[in-house]
Amino acid sequence: MLKMKVGLVGCGNIGADLCIALQRGTIPAEIVALTDIDDARARKLLNSFGLNAVICDLDENMAAADYVVECAQPSVVESVVAAAIRHQRDCLIMSVGGLMDHPDLIAEARHKGVDIRIPSGAISGLDGIRAAMEAGLHHVMLTTRKPPKGLSGAPYLVENGIDVDNLTDAKVVFEGSAREACKAFPHNVNVAAALSLTGIGPDETMVRVIADPRATSNTHEIVVEGAFGMLKTVTENLASPRNPKSSYLASLSAVAELRAVASQFVAHHQGLV
Ligand SMILES: NC(=O)c1ccc[n+]([C@@H]2O[C@H](COP(=O)([O-])OP(=O)(O)OC[C@H]3O[C@@H](n4cnc5c(N)ncnc54)[C@H](O)[C@@H]3O)[C@@H](O)[C@H]2O)c1
Repeated sequence: MLKMKVGLVGCGNIGADLCIALQRGTIPAEIVALTDIDDARARKLLNSFGLNAVICDLDENMAAADYVVECAQPSVVESVVAAAIRHQRDCLIMSVGGLMDHPDLIAEARHKGVDIRIPSGAISGLDGIRAAMEAGLHHVMLTTRKPPKGLSGAPYLVENGIDVDNLTDAKVVFEGSAREACKAFPHNVNVAAALSLTGIGPDETMVRVIADPRATSNTHEIVVEGAFGMLKTVTENLASPRNPKSSYLASLSAVAELRAVASQFVAHHQGLV
C-alpha cells in the first residue's frame, strides 16, 4: 500500500499521539524521520513504536519525508518553515504561537507553493471564521476559562502580583490583544495564535482569560462578528489521556490533519485527483 512519508520534528506527547494513531493502520502514512533537540526522546519514540525511521537533523528530515509535522516548541518554527521552503515540503505546525511573529515567512511559503498548515487545536469554528473573512470581520473575542492551577506561574500574573491560587470565585485576570496574551501566558499561546492567523491578526483579536476555581476543564469561547452575522463557539476540553497539561482535541486535530493530507497525497499519486 502506498503511504505518505512523514517526518516528525519534536518527539514528545503529540509525536507519540501521532504514532499511536498511525499504529491503527487507517491513515496511509508512515513515520520515516525523527528530529529532536534531545536524541534520547527520538530514540524512545523509535523504540516504543518500532518505527522504521532515521534520527536526523532538520534538513535530512525534510529530504527524507513527503510531509513534516512540527510538534516541538515555538522557537523552532521559524527554522522549520525556512527549511520547508528550501525543500519544497508542506508541513503542519503545531506550535502555532511560533508563527505569529513571522507573517512574512508564511507569505513567502504561500508564494512558493508550500502549504504551512495550522491545526484547529483546542478550539472549534475556524472553518466559519475563514469563510467569514471573505467579507471581513469587525470583532473577534476569545474567552479562555481555566482552573487556577492551569494559569498559576504565568509571567503576567507574576509580574502583576495576581494570586489565583486562593480564589473562591471566577476572576478575569487578563484582557488585551492576542499578541499581548501570547506574551502574558506563553503556555497558552496556540489557541490565540490560531484564531489570530485565521481571522484579523494578533493586534485586532481580543483575548480575555478567566481563572475559575469551579472549572474542571479548559473552555474556549469564541465570538466573532462581521458582515456575515455573528458566530459563537464554545469548546470544553478534556485533558489528553497521556498528557494532563494538553487538551485531547489538540492531539486529535493533528491526527485529523495528517489523515486528510495523507489521503490526498495517496489519491494524487494514484492518479485519482
Ligand atoms: N496547536 C495546538 O492547539 C497545540 C496544542 C498542544 C500543544 N501544542 C504545541 O505543540 C508542541 C508540542 O507539544 P507536546 O505536548 O508534544 O510537547 P512535549 O514537550 O511533550 O514535546 C516536545 C518535544 O520537542 C522537543 N524539542 C524541544 N525543542 C526542540 C527543538 N528546538 N528542536 C527539536 N525538538 C525540540 C523536546 O525535546 C520534546 O521531545 C508545543 O509547542 C505545544 O505548545 C499545540
